[in-house]
Amino acid sequence: MISRLHPLLVHLPIGFIVLGFLLETYVFVRKPKVDLHKAINYTYLAAIAASAMAVVTGLLLANAGKFTPSDLQIHKWLGIAVLIISIIVYLNRTLNLIKSDRQSYGLSLFLILIVSVTGHFGGTLTHGPGYLFEKSPIWVKSLVGMDSKADFTAIDTDSLIVFRDIIQPIMDQKCSRCHNQKYPSGGLITTDYSSVLKGGEDLQGVVPRKPYESGLLIRPSLPVEDERFMPPDGRVLGHSEFAIIEYWIEQGADSSMRFDSKKLPEQLRALLLRDLNLDYTPRPHYLKLAPDSLAPNVLEQLRSAGFEVNTMGQDNFFLDVRSTSDTISGESLDKLIDVASYIVQLDLSDAYLPDSAFADIVKFKNLVKLDLHSTNISDSTMAYVSSLNYMEVLNVYNTTLNLQGLELALSAPSLETIYVWKTNASDVDIASLKQRHSGINVFGASNLTVQTDTTKTSDSERE
Ligand code: HEC
Repeated sequence: MISRLHPLLVHLPIGFIVLGFLLETYVFVRKPKVDLHKAINYTYLAAIAASAMAVVTGLLLANAGKFTPSDLQIHKWLGIAVLIISIIVYLNRTLNLIKSDRQSYGLSLFLILIVSVTGHFGGTLTHGPGYLFEKSPIWVKSLVGMDSKADFTAIDTDSLIVFRDIIQPIMDQKCSRCHNQKYPSGGLITTDYSSVLKGGEDLQGVVPRKPYESGLLIRPSLPVEDERFMPPDGRVLGHSEFAIIEYWIEQGADSSMRFDSKKLPEQLRALLLRDLNLDYTPRPHYLKLAPDSLAPNVLEQLRSAGFEVNTMGQDNFFLDVRSTSDTISGESLDKLIDVASYIVQLDLSDAYLPDSAFADIVKFKNLVKLDLHSTNISDSTMAYVSSLNYMEVLNVYNTTLNLQGLELALSAPSLETIYVWKTNASDVDIASLKQRHSGINVFGASNLTVQTDTTKTSDSERE
């Protein structure tokens, strides 16, 4: 227990040695009339006593075995050196061993240097290497070669690999100072995936799907007062950091896993945004892609073929296209197909479409919104429509689609909303569609609304 006093006690010899050195400097430089010789001697005597206490408690603490051996050895011998040099300084002063004032002063200067280095190694032991500049401004860190914190702001979150881009940086910030190749405290290395998975002497670092059997979370979830709590230097894992690691392990702790913004729990998504600036809000894919600009004459040609054309934003060249004629010729359709991958919103409603249009729908691969209301589409057209991977909204109001066609349409992978009023499907058909596809908003004239949404409690309400 007395070893616990070491971190406190070490400050005493430092204080006495610095005081002795300051007084000596004063005498050396100003040569005052008052005789400070005795006062300085007593100061060094106190330094010897304090150093001895620090060394004894330090040796006891070292035996508790919490530290990286190589650093510990250096700190230990430096500490003992401080004690011995203090004794030499004291003896020199009282017995007048060295005649030259300059050389005596040099000896005290040497003592100060050794004390500083000892203190630094002691700090490295308890706070980890690099602790000295940890809280420094970025420019100081870059001066001493320390990296600044990762910045996630301008990043497309879909491209982030959870371990490499989120978890590794967290551990590098909070664990790796004491858990790396050079200082594998407890045998654990947190600087790469396979070492993290493997873990340390007692605990497996990560047990996939079992967060609370994983050392990475077991030790940081102990009470802070517990001796085994991690990290021991006060820079604890934040709530959101903990939650990310927990979710990643629950999901299988794969090294190449990416978060799926659609499946991410609402609460975690909010934490990611608030604390790490990671925006996992699901967004239409076209906001994440950036197609090259289109030649202005292409847009002109579309307009003269009877389409209303708008870009999706000032710097976004995806297109919103609306037909203004009541018959679309094969020729004007070909013009659309030339720029098919640019079109994310297409409105062909109230028009008679050529037969070729139906199979060609698949070429509009980036479509998010498709309006086919009051057109001559058929159930078989829906087989093509359902292969549009990004389509979120589909309007087939006032068409001759049957239940079979609607069923096909509802199988589109990203579909969120469909308008099915005035189709050949009966109220009973629509009610059953709504029931079987509760994740999709089916808007249709059915009075037999099946109550699915109200009975479902969402995650956030339950919390
Ligand atoms: C200031 C240094 C320091 C920091 C920072 C630190 N640790 Fe440790 N860690 C140690 C020491 C020393 C040990 C060995 C003694 C012990 O087990 O308590 C250890 C042991 C462990 C062990 C037990 C390994 C085993 O199998 O025995 C785990 C797990 C662990 N740390 C996780 C972490 C995690 C996770 C972080 C970051 C959130 C972290 N540590 C940050 C110093 C540190």
